[in-house]
Amino acid sequence: MILEILKYPDKRLRTIAKPVEEVNREIKQLAKDMFQTMYEAPGIGLAATQVNFHQRLIVIDISEECNQPLCLINPEIIEKNGEIEYEEGCLSVPNYYENVKRANEIKVSALNELGQPFEIEADEMLSICIQHEMDHLNGILFVDHLSKLKQKRLKKKAEKQSKKL
Ligand code: NI
Repeated sequence: MILEILKYPDKRLRTIAKPVEEVNREIKQLAKDMFQTMYEAPGIGLAATQVNFHQRLIVIDISEECNQPLCLINPEIIEKNGEIEYEEGCLSVPNYYENVKRANEIKVSALNELGQPFEIEADEMLSICIQHEMDHLNGILFVDHLSKLKQKRLKKKAEKQSKKL
């Protein structure tokens, strides 16, 4: 099922997600729907927050062939190193791209969609994507990392657009 993606400046995007207590049938269905929604958008990552489910679950696939699905439940960054700057976008902030600085290498622990714990080491694109999606679970958008001036301009633009709809 394709889920509706909340758009900035929707306040629900500011919700802090709760840990998933049990990887049950509902959570598995949510992960499945989120993958479908992400591929259809199309995007390379989606956090549960963006589809108005406030639990700690993200889905990612940075492959061009869309054949490397990665589901992270209750992800925690346990190591980070270096710095990388890259132009980011977000399905919740359509048609807007800006450079953001993040850690280049990260090590993350999480549960997979079967509820099994695992660790993953990531750098560059995958690392950026995981950090971006994990931010969503804390109610943070990539635009929050930009200068106050850029944020102000974006907010004005978004408010104008939502009035037109
Ligand atoms: Ni995003």
